[in-house]
Formats: sequence, structure tokens, C-alpha cells
Amino acid sequence: MKFDVRIFFDPDRLASAAAKMFADAAGEAIVSKGSFTAALSGGSTPRKLFRTLGTTYCDTVKWDSVQLFWTDERSVPPDHEQSNYRLACEELISKAAIPARNIHRIRGELNPAKAAAEYEREMARYFGSVTVPAFDLILLGVGQDGHTASLFPGSEALLVTDHFAVPSYSESSGNWRVTLTLPVLNNAERILFLVSGTSKSGIISEIFTERIGNHYPAELMEPSRGSVIWLLDREAASALKAA
Ligand code: 6PG
Repeated sequence: MKFDVRIFFDPDRLASAAAKMFADAAGEAIVSKGSFTAALSGGSTPRKLFRTLGTTYCDTVKWDSVQLFWTDERSVPPDHEQSNYRLACEELISKAAIPARNIHRIRGELNPAKAAAEYEREMARYFGSVTVPAFDLILLGVGQDGHTASLFPGSEALLVTDHFAVPSYSESSGNWRVTLTLPVLNNAERILFLVSGTSKSGIISEIFTERIGNHYPAELMEPSRGSVIWLLDREAASALKAA
């Protein structure tokens, strides 16, 4: 499988490049169809990206035409330190003029099954109820175990084709989450993976090494009509062999 991989000197340059790609994709979508839909990832890696969007691009992106969703959310209240929504709030939503009606968060404070069902209804309200939600851009990270969003290796959530959002239990962190499912992720116009740090060098090397057999969830991103771009910093790419 051919990868579009771009390697950056450090996390700051990685975040700057990702922010420019986000802003450019938003600009193109808004010019061509009047709106831009993005699903934001969680964890710690996107913080620099969100900070750059909330500062450098605060006045250049037409935020009132941007619709923000999430790829996944931990089952915690929105003000909890583990909340993916809180991360985006701190760095982006509190800085850029994004109307509240454009923020479609997963309600982590609810029971995971209820939160997943409500999020599906929210996506249906925006995208329509007959089609698979089609995001212009989906941001993803990768865990050291090869998970992405909250799709963990061996999880039943990986097999779901008749739901767009489902509850998912993380054995490693011992908490429940809600995650988008593969049909939605693979219906994106563009998937941007952001991977930073030495701790991810092993999983990146495994993912980019051709092999037969079962694959990590992060390797299952093959959008039928879109592209996948991997943005790595030098540390995350440090175990890759030169092509
Ligand atoms: C989450 C994320 C998850 C994340 C990876 C990488 O809610 O945890 O969506 O998939 O992207 O675990 O996390 P870090 O950026 O913290 O390494």
C-alpha cells in the first residue's frame, strides 16, 4: 500500500504544517460548497495544532462556516481534564469565532450507549439520515498499540457497519469512550494522521512495514474516495528505514 508520508523536524513544524492543511482544506470547501466539516481527534498530540489554529489562523479561517465534530470522546464531563472537547475548547473554540451551533460535541457525561445514539442523531441532523456522514477532514492520532480514534485492536467496534458511532472500552486506560466507526472514517474526503514523539516510532515502523496478516486499526483507514496523509515528526519517524 502506498503511503503519503510527510516528516517534519519537530512537533512545532508538524503542528504548523497540519494547521495550514486544515486552513487550506477549509478554504477550498467553503469556497466550493459554503461549509467545511471536520472531526477532531483527541489525546495530547493535537494540542499544538489546535493552538496554532486558534492563534495564527484565528482571523483567516471563515469559522462561522466550519462545523466541528469529534472522532471520539472519553466518557467524562466536558470540563474533565481527559475530555477531548475540553482540549479543543482551551486551544481553539475559546479563541476562534465558531458559533455554538457549529460545535457538535459527543456528550461524554452521558452513559456511553446514550451518548453514541445521541451523537448519531446529531450527525443525521447535519448530514441527513440516509447517507454515511461525509466529513471533509478527519484528524486522527495513533496509539502505541495501533489504535486510532477509540477503535482498539480486537475491539468489536471495528466490526460495526450499521452504526456511525458506538461505545468502546479502552482496556489500557480502563475507561469507556464513544467513537466514530470505520464506515464513517472511511467515508472522509481526507484523513490527516498526526503522530509525534519517540514513543510512536515502533508502531509507525510496524504500520509502514509491508506484512501479511492482521493489521492495526490505524491501518484500516482506506477512504473509498478520499486520501490519507501521515504527518510525522522526526522522532515518530525515527525507526523508519529509508525507502
Ligand atoms: C483519544 C484519541 C486517540 C489518540 C491516540 C494518540 O481520545 O485518545 O482520539 O485515538 O489520538 O491515543 O494519543 P496521543 O496524541 O495522546 O499520543
